[in-house]
Amino acid sequence: MSNDVLVVHGGTPLKGEIRVRGAKNLVSKAMVAAVLGDTPSTLHDVPAISDVDIVRGLLELHGVRTTMSGDQTLRMDPTNVVIAGVDEINVHAGSSRIPILLCGPLLHRLGRAYIPNLGGCNIGGRPIDFHLNALREFGAVIDKQPDGMHLSAPQRLQGIKYTLEYPSVGSTEQILLTAVLAEGVTELRNAAVEPEIIDLICVLQKMGAIIKVHTDRVIEIEGVDRLHGYRHRPVPDRIETGSWAAAALATHGEVFVRGAQQADMMTFLNVYRSIGGAFDIDDGPDGGIRFWHPGGELSPVALETDVHPGLMTDWQQPLVVALTQAHGLSIVHETVYERRFGYTAELRQMGANIQLYRECLGGTPCRWGRRNFLHSAVIAGPSQLHAADLQIPDLRAGFSHLIAALSAEGTSRVFGVDRYITRGYEDFDAKLAALGASVERP
Ligand code: EPZ
Repeated sequence: MSNDVLVVHGGTPLKGEIRVRGAKNLVSKAMVAAVLGDTPSTLHDVPAISDVDIVRGLLELHGVRTTMSGDQTLRMDPTNVVIAGVDEINVHAGSSRIPILLCGPLLHRLGRAYIPNLGGCNIGGRPIDFHLNALREFGAVIDKQPDGMHLSAPQRLQGIKYTLEYPSVGSTEQILLTAVLAEGVTELRNAAVEPEIIDLICVLQKMGAIIKVHTDRVIEIEGVDRLHGYRHRPVPDRIETGSWAAAALATHGEVFVRGAQQADMMTFLNVYRSIGGAFDIDDGPDGGIRFWHPGGELSPVALETDVHPGLMTDWQQPLVVALTQAHGLSIVHETVYERRFGYTAELRQMGANIQLYRECLGGTPCRWGRRNFLHSAVIAGPSQLHAADLQIPDLRAGFSHLIAALSAEGTSRVFGVDRYITRGYEDFDAKLAALGASVERP
């Protein structure tokens, strides 16, 4: 890992064009869905990121044959799904949160599953109680061991009536991926309805599933006896789009994100405009969104992250970097994860004025205020950021550190880029070069 560092000479506005591909948080789930089919599936526009490699490795271990073509089209053949060896699969322990979503598909296909301990970003406790409670109700038997979980389905899983305590993305996906082949009807209340979940429902519908999305976060799934493969082009990555948009604002630049779509970015675009950022939407066949800093002062805002259609938590970190350049006090209340402000320590070290609070500032009370977590931030700007050595703590925070380094005065070293940023950002070095960033690999 000697070169897992990027040297960033800050102060150059990012200017140019980059392209976003299919959303990481849909692609990885659609790959899991392929296991439910009894014929091959084809997924287009798959990003070349390490999270996709991890899920591909997991599928291969379970006997799914995968091939990726030059245009990033992934073909998955699940005809001969097998139980993976515990030792082999444990190599993936701690690397991703996706393995848990294989429970339902493997239980349906093989009657049993082994799931290693999960990884993912350290942004909160990230329990899996909703997943396990729902799986037990479907009829799965779960044996938790120190290294992972052994699951079995003594008989065909049965549809359930289930209300999620919180509209969790992963738990909603777990229930969808399990209910589609369960016997009878599943009624899920308080479901997450993120665009990536709706797109997963589209994938499952193509496979033969019957899923009705009702009003008020209610999803009804009629179990079917078999599903077949799909061909799908995923929704574009709205997190990556928002990240580059924030980078354009923080560096006084102009970035055209080809592939970005307005509908799923609406909440972000409102915030971007309130801060003083400008954007222009090209919704032609190969369109995208142009984001830029129009000059003049940026305005402070009060934000609250939330489940969709609220402001997504993954946009929070890049936006906070841009807010260090706004004139006045901004308030950001993080309501999805309890520890998603860890990265602000490095921003403070670079000269940002950010204070963290345990109270629910500037918004409605949330579960983290009652439990005393530092989950609100007040950002006083503008601050001239100066260069620093930065150690990336997780994927989205890592990108924010990078934006901070790109907008700072002087030369920063950002450590951990390959370990974290390549998990979710494709062709990262090439995109920075295309935008004229002054960066080098030592
Ligand atoms: C998904 O994580 C995304 N990851 C995250 O993106 C994203 O931040 C998050 O959804 C929210 O949009 C993937 O899709 C792979 P959750 P997930 O279940 O599904 C609590 C990125 O960088 N909860 O919606 O794990 C949980 O602790 C990543 O791309 C329980 O309490 O998130 C959290 O507070 C980071 N019990 C809240 O729900 C459970 O059993 C939301 O989590 C499950 C969740």
